[in-house]
Formats: sequence, structure tokens, C-alpha cells
Amino acid sequence: MNYLIGIDVGTSATKTVLFDETANVIASASLAYPLYQPQNGWAEQRPEDWRDAVFTTVREVMERSGVNPGAVRGIGLSGQMHGLVMLDESKEVIRPSIIWCDQRTGAEVEDMLRRMPRKRWIEITANPPLTGWTAAKILWVKKNEPENYKRCRHILLPKDYIRYVLTGEFATEVSDASGMQLLDVPARGWSKEVLEVLDIDPGLLGQVYESCQVTGTLTEEAARRTGLSKETKVVGGAGDNAAAAVGTGVVRDGRAFTTIGTSGVVFAHSSRVAIDPEGRVHTCCCAVPNAWHVMGVTQGAGLSLKWFKDQLCQDYSARAEKEGRDVYDWINEDVAAVPAGSDRLIYLPYLMGERTPHLDPDCRGVFFGLSAIHQRKHLLRAVMEGVAYSLCDCKEILQEMGIEVEGMMACGGGGKSPVWRQMLADLYRCPVKTVSQEEGPALGAAILAGVGCGLYPDVETACDRLIGEKCATMPKEGQAEVYEKYHRLYQNLYQSLKRNFKELARL
Ligand code: XUL
Repeated sequence: MNYLIGIDVGTSATKTVLFDETANVIASASLAYPLYQPQNGWAEQRPEDWRDAVFTTVREVMERSGVNPGAVRGIGLSGQMHGLVMLDESKEVIRPSIIWCDQRTGAEVEDMLRRMPRKRWIEITANPPLTGWTAAKILWVKKNEPENYKRCRHILLPKDYIRYVLTGEFATEVSDASGMQLLDVPARGWSKEVLEVLDIDPGLLGQVYESCQVTGTLTEEAARRTGLSKETKVVGGAGDNAAAAVGTGVVRDGRAFTTIGTSGVVFAHSSRVAIDPEGRVHTCCCAVPNAWHVMGVTQGAGLSLKWFKDQLCQDYSARAEKEGRDVYDWINEDVAAVPAGSDRLIYLPYLMGERTPHLDPDCRGVFFGLSAIHQRKHLLRAVMEGVAYSLCDCKEILQEMGIEVEGMMACGGGGKSPVWRQMLADLYRCPVKTVSQEEGPALGAAILAGVGCGLYPDVETACDRLIGEKCATMPKEGQAEVYEKYHRLYQNLYQSLKRNFKELARL
């Protein structure tokens, strides 16, 4: 039997899963690490934490499974997108990584628009300049930490830093590189024009591969630290969303998924470069060669619920630990006991600003309509509904663009919640399905590794063979109408508060 490993370098944890070649989970391990927020709207993590989590979790799955290292044919990497990792001449990390949800780069985005018209940015990178994307972060470091920029010899994305740690190669692949805003997305290669406009030395960037191409094999040290063989191949892999698409079988036109992880994403496959002229949703290369995807992003999806749980549900967490249950089980029970609309309470999930549909780094979270009748369970439900309204905005924009969405899969930690899936089904007015394998990005990355190692002929065939649907949540009668009224009010709230958010940011 051949085996494959998928590693997902997420925001809350790194998850490593060992699969056999028929996609059965043999062993899985995850390790969490902190998110640092030195200022309101900033978000950083230590690449060394990701590295240590990768070594620990790979070693753990190998030890626990007892699988012969020589039978592990390949590794696929998946990871949080857009983060900036800078290495110096001796390949040491220069500063903490500024990650995807960081919103400090408003001025840099304006600067990018002064250097090149918005229309041209969209033509080349398929997206307007965005605060969370890597290019703006590079400019921020250049301007605010020139001594760090001077020392920088390599610029990498989070999972590509792990690739360097494992293989010694400086490389990336098209799906994640699309989120750097330095890639010519239709042509699937670095854009000379953009690099010139931003005055970024192309030598700082790694070679760009397709997601299922082999980018190297393990170094001696990586083999020793992971317990794997030096022959193990590492393929390009994909940004976490493109990897989740493969892991949920979203690899053909008409297919789409919603993921609720730290961020929330509505993702649709597209065999053409479909672009929203208003830039509200992102267009990127996908992990299938010669195909792209369009995705809307909610910055604070699972993040909102985790924030609420950490700050206001400590008693649940303590009880969960004592009884060996998942804290989210209680939260789901609470939420299920409150009617749709949370008894007239609306939450705007803008804890880290918002991307789709507002592209606004300055907006912040809001509970609207608080009354003395509300209990914690109402607030919890409002949080989940607010995220669902935002995801519904994403889906509506895809429809507006003429992207057909025939079926919606759900994945990510939040996708496991039946209550959240019900909200999505009611708001989307369509069935929301889950796949029998729950590993999402890690499975997608492992499938890409299987294609690169020749175990499967191509990504689509592998998905057809390996991925099955599990259950469908159907829309409940009458709920869509209730939600529609709340959703409309939710949309109006942002418009009413837009100016106030800017004022708040200036205080
Ligand atoms: C996508 C995005 C997030 C991150 C973190 O554009 O920023 O989904 O990849 O998961």
C-alpha cells in the first residue's frame, strides 16, 4: 500500500494527516499556536511555530501509525494564504509573519493604486490591490522597517516556508501565489510588470509550479526530524481554499463549497478567468491545471465564534475539558434553542475589517438590537447568523457574475456544525452537503501529492474516485423568508455605519 501526507498550516493550528492511497485516514495530529495582535487590526504569527508544529505532527502520525517511511510516497502542503515570510542570507526568519487577516496596509494599497491604475491591476493580477494580500505587506515592511527589507533575500508564503524547511527549495505554486498580487493570474507566472512597478527584485521570489508538480524531496535533516524517508516527494500543494476545493471534490464548473474556518469562504470552480469588476470577490488560479476559482471571503467567520467563546464562554470551556466533550457542542445546543433572527439581534462579523463585499480594513464588529431579553445564547446565535449573512453576500456576488453554482459543499470546523449548515441552506435556498472525508485542505493536499507521484492520473479522476458525499442539509420551509428580512437589515447596517467606522479608526 502507498501512503500520502497532507499538511495544512492553518491560522489556529497545523494539521497533519496520513492517508492511504484510497484516502482512508490512517493517523492525524494537530498542534495549535498563538496569533499575536500587537495593535488593533494587526495579526502576526511566528513561522518557527509553524515549522515546529509540522515536525511534531508529522513525527506523531508516523510513530502512531507504524507505517514504513519508504511507503509514504509524497507530501502535499496547504496553508493560510497571503502571509509574508522573509528570510535573510542565512535563511533565518527576519520578523514575525504578517498574516492574511492583518489590516495595517491601507496606505500601501493607496500607494499601489497611484503606481498603476486599478484596471491594470485587475487585468494582470485578476484583483484590485487588497490590504490583506502579500504585495501590500512587502511595501509596508519596505517603508516602515527598511533595515529588515534590506536584509531580506527570500520572500515566501506560509506553506512555502515549510517547503523550504522540508526540501531546501524556494518555490511556490499558482494557487497560493495568486494571493500575493505579484502573479499574472491568467498566464500563471510572476508578472514582470507588477514587480517593476513595485520595485521588487524577482530574485526574492521562488519558482512557480502547478499544484501537483513535484518541487523537491526531503533534506537529510527534515527526514531525521520527521521520521520520513529522504525520497519522499513534496508537491506544490495549494493555498488552503484551493486545497479544500480538491478535498471536497470542487474541481469542475458548477461545483462550489463554503468553508467556515478562522475565515469564511465561498468558493466556486471556473474553467475561465471570471473577474468581478468591483473586486469584491477574488479570482485565483486553482489547483487544477488550466482552471481558476472565484471566492468571496469573510474575514472573521470561525474567528468571531472563537473570540466570543474565549471571552464569554469560559465556563463552557472548563466544563468541556472536565467532561471530555467539545465546547462547540454546548454552543450548538444553545443556538438551536433560539429562533432564526435571534429575537431581533444582528451581529456584523467585522472583527478584523471585511473583504467581501466591502473591502474595508476599518470596519469593526457590531451587535445591533441588544435588549434586556437577550441571553448569551442569543448573542451566540447572532454571531453565527452574522457570519452566515456575510457568506450569503459572497454567494450572491458569484451568482451576479454568472458563475453557476449547482451544488454547495460545506467544510472547515464550522461546516461540521449542523446548526450553521442549516443557516447556510436556509439563506442560500439550496441543499448544503458534506463529504464523507472531513479532512478538507489536508486531503486536498494529499491528493495533489498522489497526482504528482503518479498514483492518480489527474486531480479530477482522483476526486471522482476518492470523494463521496455524506449528508445534505435541506432548506427549512419558511426560514428563507425570515432570514431575508434580517439579511437586508444586516446589509443596510454596514452602509449606515461606514462613515462611523472610518471615524473610529481615526480616534
Ligand atoms: C483567503 C484568505 C483566508 C486564508 C486563511 O483569501 O485570506 O481564507 O487563506 O485561511
